[in-house]
Amino acid sequence: MNNQENIVILGIESSCDDTSAAVIQNGVIKSNEVAGQAVHKAYGGVVPELASRAHQQNIIPVVDQAIKKAQISRDEISAIAFTRGPGLLGSLLVGTSFAKGFALASGIPLIEINHLQGHVLAHFIKENENDESQPQFPFLCLLVSGGNSQIIIVRDYLDMEVIGQTIDDAAGEAFDKCAKVIGLPYPGGPLIDKLAREGNPEAFKFSEPKIPGLDYSFSGLKTSFLYFIRDNIQDNPDFIEENKSDICASIQHTIIKVLMAKLKRAAKETGIKEIAVAGGVSANSGLREALQKEAEKRDWKLHIPKFDYTTDNAAMIAITGYYKYQKGEFVGQDVAPFARMVINND
Ligand code: KG4
Repeated sequence: MNNQENIVILGIESSCDDTSAAVIQNGVIKSNEVAGQAVHKAYGGVVPELASRAHQQNIIPVVDQAIKKAQISRDEISAIAFTRGPGLLGSLLVGTSFAKGFALASGIPLIEINHLQGHVLAHFIKENENDESQPQFPFLCLLVSGGNSQIIIVRDYLDMEVIGQTIDDAAGEAFDKCAKVIGLPYPGGPLIDKLAREGNPEAFKFSEPKIPGLDYSFSGLKTSFLYFIRDNIQDNPDFIEENKSDICASIQHTIIKVLMAKLKRAAKETGIKEIAVAGGVSANSGLREALQKEAEKRDWKLHIPKFDYTTDNAAMIAITGYYKYQKGEFVGQDVAPFARMVINND
């Protein structure tokens, strides 16, 4: 039988370019270590082969550090949870192989985690035993990252349904691609956010997508942005430099408007007023402001994750592992990573 009294989960995240390990004890965070990968900076994006090699170098020191910081001994760990997908296959393979080896050597269960479910369940990570800030079921989660833009109904920890999603680019991708067009380094999202604070969000207008239902589309917006910059540079070669903050504020404003429109619609259609946001783009200050404003207006109970849990981190993998452990959802040594995985109760 599993020990359900003292559940200690070691989480491993290696889906993209951050190697992370975390320890969660009975739902409370004990450590969350993240090693980034500077090696991609020169290439304007993540280079998959370089990412897997860097994961291989980082994984043992990162896990070691997470265990030490948590002040636990290895034999206290109940199970190891790892990101099975979605993500870069080579990167996932490093985390998966490490987790298998660790489980085998320690004689503990192995738990596979869907990275997207992890982003959603990051809201359940407790900072201490008295932390009661978790969302109530059912709630809506706007999951916005570099690879996904989804609206999810969360009925229970492991019962989620995607009711809207992007049909092409994700919101984070739109931020990064627009940033690239105006010469900002990768990842451009945080830089656009920073520059937008000094600019006028109404300075320039971009065409907004007209997609039925609760789905998103960002590729048209990205193209219209590209043409807008190209045309203006033809008239004035210094256009970008002279208008950088206004350009950033305006494109950010448009992306947020698109995200908020479908979220408002989803809240109205489902009647759910408990609203959460997750993923890398949830770090965006403009989006956070728009959510706060809407929450006040519509009487939403809003859940915005701690900054550390917005981007890729193993704490969200460990907390998901904690709920799967209680249900005995383990996998065998034959488990393989998946580059693509969906969220719908898989
Ligand atoms: O969740 P995440 O770390 O990775 C994926 O799993 O995809 O999200 C990364 C994305 C990148 O596109 C990055 O530009 C964006 O999140 N991002 C932001 C901000 N911080 C990160 N976008 C806008 N504003 C930010 N402050």
